[in-house]
Amino acid sequence: MQLFRTKPINQLLADASDKEHGLKRALGGASLVTLGIGAIIGTGIFVLTGTVAANYAGPALVLSFIISAAGCVFAGLCYAEFASMIPISGSAYTYAYATLGEFIAWIIGWDLILEYLFASSTVAVGWSGYMVSFLHDYNINIPTQLCNAPVDFIKGQGWILTGSIINFPAVFIVALLSTLLVIGIRESAGLNNIIVFIKVIVILLFIGFGLSFIDTSNWHPFIPPNTGEFGKFGFSGVLRGAAVIFFAYIGFDAVSTAAQEAKNPQRDMPIGILGSLLICTILYVLVSGVLTGIVPYAELNVPAPLAMAIDKTGNALLWLRPLIKIGAIAGLSSVILVMLLGQPRIFYTMAKDGLLPKSFAKVHPRFRTPYVTTILTGIVSCFIAGVLPINILSELVSIGTLLAFTIVCISILVLRKTRPDVPRPFKTPLVPLVPIAGATICLLQMISLPWETWERLLIWMAIGLLIYFFYSKRHSKLAK
Ligand code: ALA
Repeated sequence: MQLFRTKPINQLLADASDKEHGLKRALGGASLVTLGIGAIIGTGIFVLTGTVAANYAGPALVLSFIISAAGCVFAGLCYAEFASMIPISGSAYTYAYATLGEFIAWIIGWDLILEYLFASSTVAVGWSGYMVSFLHDYNINIPTQLCNAPVDFIKGQGWILTGSIINFPAVFIVALLSTLLVIGIRESAGLNNIIVFIKVIVILLFIGFGLSFIDTSNWHPFIPPNTGEFGKFGFSGVLRGAAVIFFAYIGFDAVSTAAQEAKNPQRDMPIGILGSLLICTILYVLVSGVLTGIVPYAELNVPAPLAMAIDKTGNALLWLRPLIKIGAIAGLSSVILVMLLGQPRIFYTMAKDGLLPKSFAKVHPRFRTPYVTTILTGIVSCFIAGVLPINILSELVSIGTLLAFTIVCISILVLRKTRPDVPRPFKTPLVPLVPIAGATICLLQMISLPWETWERLLIWMAIGLLIYFFYSKRHSKLAK
C-alpha cells in the first residue's frame, strides 16, 4: 500500500505558495506562451518534415500534423487543468503523486528525464550540425574530429570508435544555456523571447514568400497510394507520419514546469500551454502545405528541407536561404533552453519530496533558481551531447513523452473521481471523452514505435526501479 500513497493536494498547494524560500514568480501569460513556442518549434519543422513527407505521408504530411496535434491538444487540455489546479514545478510527476501514488509518480519523474534531459542533448547535436554548416558557408571550418561523437552504435557491429574526439559545439551550447539558467528565470525567459521572435519571423517569411511558388500539381495525389508495406504511404503512412512528427510538438508540456515561477498560474498556465500549442499547430500546417507545394514530396528526404524548397524557387528567394539557417539555429537553441529549464525543476520537486537527495532542492540565495539541479542537468546533458550517438536516444524522447501524456490523461479521470471538490480554475471539457481520446491516441503512437525503443524504455525503467527501492522509498518525506 505504501507504494500507492498519494500526496495530499492541500500539502501540494502549501508547498507551491512558499514565497520565502521558493522560486521567483516572474513570468506572465505572454512569456509562458513564448516559453512554449520556444520549446516546440525546432528539429520537427526544420528537419523531420522532409523525412515524413518523403518516406511516409507525401503531401498528406499536413494530415499527419493535424492527427498528431489532436492527441497533443487532448493531452494539453488535461495538462492545463492540472497545471492551473496544482501549480507545482514537478509537472506530470506531481500530478501523478496527487492521484496515482508515489510509485507511479516516481516512474513518471524518471520517465520525464527521457523527455527533457535526452531531448536537450539530442537537439544540441542537431544545433551543432546546423551551426557547423552555417559557419562553413562563411569559410569557417571546424575540424570534423571536434564536431562529432567519438563512439557510434552500428546494427550488427555494435559499438565502434569513429575517430572523433568530441562534439564540441553541442557541449558549448548546452554549457552556455545552463549558465544562463542558473543566473535567472527572467533573463532566460528574456533570451527565449528574442529567439522565438527570430524563428517565428523566419517561418512566416517562408510561408509568405513561398506561397506564390506553390505548384498545385505537387499536391496530387494528396495521399500517395500505399506501397504494400504498412506505413509506406496510403492511410497507414499518414498514421506512421503522425507518430514520427509527434516529436515536433514535444515541449508545450514544459510550460507546466514553470508553474511555480508564473505570476498568476491559475489563469496563465492554460494560456501558456494551449496558446503555444495552437500557434505552433497553425504554423506547422501552413509550412508543410507550402513545402510540399514547392517541392515534389519524393525529393524531400534531406537534412534541411526548408532550405531545399528555397533552392527550388531559383534565384528569387536566395536571400532567404541564410535566414532559414539562422531561424533553425535560433529555433534549436530555444528548444535546448526550455528543456534544460524543465528538467531541473522536476528534479527539484522530487528532491523536495525526499525521493532524490535533499541537496538537489537548493535554491540559489541571490538568483532564486534551482542551481544545483540546473548544473547537474547541464553536466549530464553536455556529456550525452558531446560523446554519445544521438540517433539511438531521440526515439526514446518520443516514447518517454507519450508515456507521460498518457498518464496525465488518466490522472485527470482519477482526480475527478477522488477529489471532485478541489477548485479547478481551468476544466478539461467533455470529460471523460477528451482524456480517454488523449490517452488512446498517445498509446497508439507508442505502439507504432519500433520494438528496440520499447526495449530501451524498459531498461531505463528497470534502472529507475532500483533507485526507487534502494533510495527513494526509504527517504520519502511522505513516508516519514
Ligand atoms: N519539439 C521540439 C523539436 O521539434 C522538441 O525540436
